[in-house]
Amino acid sequence: MIFTRKWVIGIVVMLLLASSIIFAVARLTAPAEETALTPVPFISLQEPFPPLNEPEDNPTTPEKVALGRLLFFDPVLSEKNDVACATCHQPDRGLSDGRSTSIGTSGNPVPRNAPTLWNVGYVGNLFWDGRVQSLEAQALFPLTNPDEMGDADTDALVAELAAYPEYAALFAAAFPGEPMGLAQVEKALAAFQRTLISNDSPFDRYAAGDLDALTPSQRRGLELFRSTKTRCVECHMFPTFSSESFRVIGVASDDVGRAAVFENGLVGSFKTPTLRNVALTAPYMHNGSLATLAEVIDFYADGGGRVRGVENMDLLVQKIELSAQERADLTAFLMALTDESNRPEIPESVPSGLPVIETKYD
Ligand code: HEC
Ligand code: HEC
Repeated sequence: MIFTRKWVIGIVVMLLLASSIIFAVARLTAPAEETALTPVPFISLQEPFPPLNEPEDNPTTPEKVALGRLLFFDPVLSEKNDVACATCHQPDRGLSDGRSTSIGTSGNPVPRNAPTLWNVGYVGNLFWDGRVQSLEAQALFPLTNPDEMGDADTDALVAELAAYPEYAALFAAAFPGEPMGLAQVEKALAAFQRTLISNDSPFDRYAAGDLDALTPSQRRGLELFRSTKTRCVECHMFPTFSSESFRVIGVASDDVGRAAVFENGLVGSFKTPTLRNVALTAPYMHNGSLATLAEVIDFYADGGGRVRGVENMDLLVQKIELSAQERADLTAFLMALTDESNRPEIPESVPSGLPVIETKYD
C-alpha cells in the first residue's frame, strides 16, 4: 500500500511539473496578437519633466532672471535700437509674434516662424533645425543676424550697456566677480528664459486626477491624441509635447531644415515642436504656413506631405479617417494645453529708457 501511494504521489508531482512546463512554454510562444494589441508602450499622462538644460556655470538666480528680463524687453540690444527679443517673442502672443515669418530690424522677413519660448529651458536642440545646444549659445544668433537685431559689433553693444549706470549695477549684482561682457548678457537672457515654464494646464490638472479639468470633447481629443489611429503622442511626447527628434511631416516649403546643418539630416526634417500653449501661437509650422489648429489637424488627416509625394515622409504620418467631430475634439484637446501662469510681466520701462516692445511692423 505504502509503495503504491508513493507511486501515486510521484505521478501526480510529475504531472504537475509537466503541465507547468507546458504552460510556461505556451506563454513564451504566445500568439503574436497578444503583444500586437499594445504596440505603444504604456505612457502615463503624468510623466515627470526632464531636468532643465542648464549649464553648471550658469545656475539660475533671481538677480540673473531680473536682469535677463530687462534685457529681453530692451531694444537697446539691436543695432538701431528698434527691436527687442520681445518684438518676436511677445508675452501677449504665446511668446511668439503672430506672423508666419518674423520681421526684425532690416524689414526683410526672416525665413522662419518664431517658435514659442514657453518651456524652452527643457529644449536640448534649439531652432527648427536643432543647430544650437544651449540658450547661452543661442542668443548670439538673433543679436548679430542682420535681419533680426543686426548688432554685428558685440563689443560696442557691451560698451553701450555698460554706459547705463542701472545696467552696470544690475550686472554687478547678477555676476559678482565676473566682468561685464557678452557672456554675461547671454547668461542673463538664458536664466530669464528658463523661468518661462508652463506645466499647469487643464491637461496637467486632469492628469493629476481632476477629472473635471477637461471637457468631454477635450477628453475624447486626448484619447485620439494618444491613440494608434493618430499616433500624435509618439512625436509630441508627454509632458513637454515635443521630442528632440527631427521628422519629415511634409509641410509645403523649400526649406531643407536639418539637412542644411547636419550631414545626416533628412531633407525637409524639422524638430518636433512643443504643443504647450499652442492655442496662442498661430500661425503654425516652421514657415507659419498653416493658419489655424483646425488646418493643422486637416493637414495630418490628409497624410501630411504624402499627398504631394514629399520624399522621406515619416511613417507615422499617414492618411487618417477622422470625422468632423473627431477633428473638433483634437483641436479642443490642443486648447487644453494652455497655461500662462508664469507669463513674464512686461516691464514698464527698461534701463535704456527706450520704448518697451515696439512692434514696428504690425
Ligand atoms: C526678428 C525676430 C526675432 C528676434 C528679434 C528674436 N528672435 Fe528668437 N527666434 C526667431 C525666429 C524666427 C526663430 C526660429 C529660427 C530658426 O529656427 O532658424 C527664433 C528662435 C529662437 C529660439 C529657439 C527656440 C526653440 O525652441 O528652438 C530662442 C531660444 C530664441 N529665439 C530666443 C531669442 C532671444 C533671447 C532673442 C533676443 C536676444 C531673440 N530670440 C530675438 C525670431 C526672433
Ligand atoms: C512623425 C512625428 C509627428 C507626428 C506623428 C505628429 N507630429 Fe505634429 N509636428 C511634428 C513636426 C516635425 C512638426 C514641425 C514641422 C514643420 O514645421 O515643418 C510638427 C508640428 C505640429 C504643430 C505645429 C506646432 C507649431 O508650433 O507650429 C501642431 C499643432 C502639431 N504638430 C500637432 C500634431 C497632432 C495633433 C498630431 C497627430 C494628429 C501630430 N502633430 C503628429 C512631428 C509630428
